[in-house]
Amino acid sequence: MLIGRPSDIRPSEITSKDNYVNRRQFIKAGAAAGGIALAPSAFAAVVPRNEFAKLPDISSSKFSTDEAPTSFDDVTTYNNYWEFGTAKQDPAIHTTEFEPLPWRITVDGHAEKTGSFEFDDFIKPFDLEERIYRMRCVEAWSMVIPWVGISLADVVKRYQPTSKAKYVAFETLQDPRRMPGQKRQVLEWPYREGLTIEEATNPLAILAVGLYGEALPNPNGAPIRLVVPWKYGFKGIKGIVRISFVEKRPASSWNIAQPWEYGFYANVNPDVSHPRWSQARERRIGSDRFAAKQPTLMFNGYGEQVAHLYKDLDLRKNY
Ligand code: MTE
Repeated sequence: MLIGRPSDIRPSEITSKDNYVNRRQFIKAGAAAGGIALAPSAFAAVVPRNEFAKLPDISSSKFSTDEAPTSFDDVTTYNNYWEFGTAKQDPAIHTTEFEPLPWRITVDGHAEKTGSFEFDDFIKPFDLEERIYRMRCVEAWSMVIPWVGISLADVVKRYQPTSKAKYVAFETLQDPRRMPGQKRQVLEWPYREGLTIEEATNPLAILAVGLYGEALPNPNGAPIRLVVPWKYGFKGIKGIVRISFVEKRPASSWNIAQPWEYGFYANVNPDVSHPRWSQARERRIGSDRFAAKQPTLMFNGYGEQVAHLYKDLDLRKNY
């Protein structure tokens, strides 16, 4: 178990991913034996295609926490990604055949620049940064994840939204052949999320393309997903194919499914409980099962950077 992290050692050097690698090799071998062709790596560009490929030129961020990162195994095998099943283990098991690249991202809506871009062209203009963030799920568990990503504020700035753009909406790929969980109507597909333009341009919000210094693993939303560390995990939409600048508040998947449980803002707030889970405390994944839960912090501890965004909002009503 990780108990501390000297600052001069990269997280990827101190965590064991052997179990995860072995598991995926085992699963892939099984898939190949069953006749499923696994294409060789063909795209060695900004974000390499093969899993576990190192990402180049990553700078570190002043926003990183120095808390010990959750192990690579836990980060990649305890996931919510309903496009691949509704159990926590499903994404690790059912994304083994998912080929994230090639991938296109469309940027549209109220902006000076719009278009449809190959993944690499979309990423290329931006700096890759490691951001070690505390992540808090509404189900009252938490992790510390060393993401690699690009600043969402930089992305927004590049496309020059007009004054009509009050929100940024995101959509996941909809393709039940590639995402078999979409054959079941457990959510309204495609998965959708949204932020206000002020939230999207806050320096903490990123689009992640990797973790632990490597290309984003499939269970975590390859090739690109949203990370907003002061909000509950469900805001972190995975497998993004569309980013839209819109005037009206966009739909978000969990809010559509259960509006009485999930609001648009979804800010981490220990004082406002979800109907099924208290938000006052959290269990850090990877810690001893019998260890005491730790207190949840307002805005997940990122209040200094984000509290001003909500100064005129009643956060009990706008949860
Ligand atoms: N994105 C898509 N497309 N589909 C999903 O089911 N689940 C969300 C979010 N993003 C989800 C998604 C939920 S409920 C959580 S808690 C986080 O992803 C989990 O992210 P992680 O698996 O990387 O920890």
